[in-house]
Amino acid sequence: MPHTPRKILVTSALPYANGSIHLGHMLEHIQTDIWVRFQRMRGHEIYYVCADDAHGTPIMLKAKAEGVTPEALIERFKAEHQRDFDDFAIQFDNYHTTHSEENRLLAEYIFKRLDDGGHIVKRTISQAFDPEEGIFLPDRFIKGECPRCGAPDQYGDSCEVCGATYSPADLINPYSAISGATPIEKDTEHYFVSLGNFSEMLHQWTSGNHIQNEVRNKLKEWFDSGLRDWDISRDAPYFGFTIPGETEKYFYVWLDAPIGYFASFRNLCDREGLDFDAFCQAGSNAEMYHFIGKDILYFHTLFWPAMLRGAGFRAPSAVYAHGFLTVNGQKMSKSRGTFISARAYLDHLDPDYLRYYFAAKLNEHVEDLDLNLDDFQQRVNSDLVGKVVNIASRSAGFINKRFDNRLASSLDDAALFDAFASAAETIASYYEKRQYSRAIRAIAELADRANQYVNDRAPWLMAKDENPGEELHRVCSQGVNLFRTLMIYLAPVVPLLTARAEVFLKSPIAERSGWHAAGTPLLDHEVGPFKHLMSRIDAKAVDAVIEASKEKPAATDTKSTTVKKSGSTMNDTSSQATRPVTVVPAESEQNPTISIDDFAKIDLRIALISDANYIEGADKLLQLTLDIGDETRNVFAGIRSAYEPESLKGRFVVMVANLAPRKMRFGVSEGMVLAAGPGGEDIWLISPDSGAKPGMRVK
Ligand code: MSP
Ligand code: ZN
Repeated sequence: MPHTPRKILVTSALPYANGSIHLGHMLEHIQTDIWVRFQRMRGHEIYYVCADDAHGTPIMLKAKAEGVTPEALIERFKAEHQRDFDDFAIQFDNYHTTHSEENRLLAEYIFKRLDDGGHIVKRTISQAFDPEEGIFLPDRFIKGECPRCGAPDQYGDSCEVCGATYSPADLINPYSAISGATPIEKDTEHYFVSLGNFSEMLHQWTSGNHIQNEVRNKLKEWFDSGLRDWDISRDAPYFGFTIPGETEKYFYVWLDAPIGYFASFRNLCDREGLDFDAFCQAGSNAEMYHFIGKDILYFHTLFWPAMLRGAGFRAPSAVYAHGFLTVNGQKMSKSRGTFISARAYLDHLDPDYLRYYFAAKLNEHVEDLDLNLDDFQQRVNSDLVGKVVNIASRSAGFINKRFDNRLASSLDDAALFDAFASAAETIASYYEKRQYSRAIRAIAELADRANQYVNDRAPWLMAKDENPGEELHRVCSQGVNLFRTLMIYLAPVVPLLTARAEVFLKSPIAERSGWHAAGTPLLDHEVGPFKHLMSRIDAKAVDAVIEASKEKPAATDTKSTTVKKSGSTMNDTSSQATRPVTVVPAESEQNPTISIDDFAKIDLRIALISDANYIEGADKLLQLTLDIGDETRNVFAGIRSAYEPESLKGRFVVMVANLAPRKMRFGVSEGMVLAAGPGGEDIWLISPDSGAKPGMRVK
């Protein structure tokens, strides 16, 4: 139990208000939400705020293309975003918008303080201008031929064909991505923040524990290439806040975006009577953390700390960057159906599945994370459903039916319960350090022990006795209590499952300060009727998500909005028109009949498992040595989730003896054993009747 409650302010990056939330965003919000829920369970005073990032040229242009006001557009997206986050059980204390009065006041205030401190300079620059639209063009809105390879229609900052990076001025035959007109160069006066004034402060801040080590190296590169003045103004037409004293000049979206963190918190403070200054002023003893993606580090580790310092606010306690999400090993792609919007996922799958999978793979580093859809199903089904939820279902029925919903007043194995309880601090330290994968591994190991316990005690055998008495009662109460401890540890990750478990247990789990409850078992306590807590992932649902993402990608990648050269719209419809429809073969085509000759090609043999072992580094496979009479075979079998090696030794199975040998990471696999079942714990090896001898052919 925590001794002194900490005061903590936490943020996730603010999603742009011109596109739908996708699973890449969800990686970030799930990572943050797990940390926040964990801290709440530890009893800390923590606030998690976010907002929509509502300003900038792309939003203005999208609204124009749709024939609506920017205000209407951002309002619509904000409502959509909030629904998505809500349905993923992201528990914000506040979700605001950067287009708010709080943000305007804070942006003006910070700008004024920077100006008073002599950190703002004005300078005339020359910028690309679209003479048809009458608008200055951001780099992303200028296209042309790549200066290196000549590829047409490349963006102003880099070539997607050859990977060259350059400035828009280098493009051959440049054109405006909005109107198609040839841009001209035009002079304009801009405001800059003299970042160099903060060089000492930034050096100091970035050498502390405020950033991840791998980020520190990146920052060193940026420092070494010099801290240039930062351009914080944009000319009309623009959607944003006008700069005080100007009518045609606006704050650049990235100036008021991070200030939006404070604005959202300010809005919360005003509503709930919290002390804003206690968290945000210089010298505050509260902690402040920003969870972000690796692509926006520069803004959060250089610009933002400098702005805060210049305006007399505290610096972030830390900025935590994560890597990017890939799906099936590749960048999310609309044509493959892997650019998955939050809604497409939610339409078919339980959010806890994804939360669990991300947690099982997340660590404290800036590494990309792959959502492998097969691995996703396998891990959730075998570990979360097959192990954790299974413990409850194996014990609860007896408590309901035989003991009138009441848990026993003592446990069958108090030492085992204590061993579970004493994992609390280790698991807590993993969550604290954002080493979620370690936390999940530790929990899975406990789940294995719990299942082993239930296997060993076999309550279903005790229950055959008409009058099983207290032993069955204590054993099942033990099972329910072990399940409860696991749910306490998993509560930050799977809030919806936790809520269902709370109903069954008739006891809160995820409440503030709830972590310490892991130390005390529920005894002589009434539970509710056990209802099915969680189903396995149905592969068809995953296919449906992919299909839905192929047909109508509601999600727009706000980072690479494609703009058609000819029209003046910003809608990316080009990728929808030519999308191929996947034809699913009929059942009979998938499973055509085979001739007896086809069957005869398969050399099936009776095999004796003469040895079986775990494999270091393999979480699904077991190594089997198979005796088939005149030879032995080495086979790697994906049955680890269902069998312990010891239990297999001496057992007879059926193997495919003429399967082409397959080289694997651990060695060559020389055949395959036959088994039935969906996977996870539900795998059943096929064995012959007694009397069959190793090497006999199966016909
Ligand atoms: N509006 C800015 C952030 C302003 S914060 C003051 C922005 N918006 S965004 O919508 O493009 O991205 C929001 C967050 O989602 C960022 O942290 C970004 O890194 C993250 N991600 C966007 N795509 C992602 C993946 N494919 N994978 C993981 N995170 C991703 O940037
Ligand atoms: Zn090129």
